[in-house]
Amino acid sequence: MSELVLTDRDGAVAVVLLNRPEALNALSDELMDELVQTLAELDRDESVRAIVLGGSERAFAAGADIGELAQTSAIGLYYQHRVERWDAIRGLWTPLVAAVSGYCLGGGCELAMSCDLIVASETAEFGQPETGLGIIPGAGGTQRLTRAVGKALAMDVILSGRRLSAREALQAGLVARVVAREAWLEEAKRVAREIAEKGPVATRLAKESVDRAHETTLSAGLEAERRALYLAFASEDAHEGLTAFTEKRKPEFKGR
Ligand code: CAA
Repeated sequence: MSELVLTDRDGAVAVVLLNRPEALNALSDELMDELVQTLAELDRDESVRAIVLGGSERAFAAGADIGELAQTSAIGLYYQHRVERWDAIRGLWTPLVAAVSGYCLGGGCELAMSCDLIVASETAEFGQPETGLGIIPGAGGTQRLTRAVGKALAMDVILSGRRLSAREALQAGLVARVVAREAWLEEAKRVAREIAEKGPVATRLAKESVDRAHETTLSAGLEAERRALYLAFASEDAHEGLTAFTEKRKPEFKGR
């Protein structure tokens, strides 16, 4: 087990916690490398059906490591494979639930938005403060936040540095659920367990289809959804799920 990223298993759910409390989980190169490696390993493990990604109660993550950024040149940024790391997270098959408590800023907010859904504590604060540092969000913030909350609020958050409370984030569509301070991790695990109980093939296809809604036209998205449905129908899981319902029993999905 690495130090910067802690991993735990709860049946079919893996829990991955960022562990750099002295820097409010700032996303250093080393931490990001460990995170991507950990997530990739879990993604290859078929017994893992959902992943919870969290930080601590005080901070999900306070952004990229500003000390490291201050030492980096533009060409350095280009050569450091940063983009590949974020692409690797985007390419994960396993559903990812972000468990957000406290600060969720800059690259931290971008990391949470890279997950499939966000469960937030009522203490969570979401922001993209990069322009205050003379840079801009570079890991999807300008795109994902705008798609999630719309142009007006995204401009406000990104240009003024305003932070969104958990309630505002819920109302704006950035967050799926807001829970009491002490429930931030448990609720995310509960959601992940619910996801993990569903048909794994269907879950992956559904995740892929929802993601596609942001990438394509409605008619192309509907066509892709139809094909995904046919593929889901071809799975043993679909047969099991439909039969189990008619036989009034719990389905036993195999991910096949
Ligand atoms: N990078 C490196 N270290 C950080 C950090 C970061 N992003 N955020 C916090 N820390 C460190 C602080 O330097 C401090 O360390 P020391 O104790 O050694 O001084 C420690 O974490 C605790 O932080 P504070 O004392 O500042 O705690 P606070 O409660 O007073 O304030 C905060 C919390 C408002 C989150 C404040 O720390 C802050 O503003 N952090 C920076 C947030 C930010 O600007 N994030 C964007 C980074 S850029 C980015 O992410 C780029 C990108 O998308 C590509």
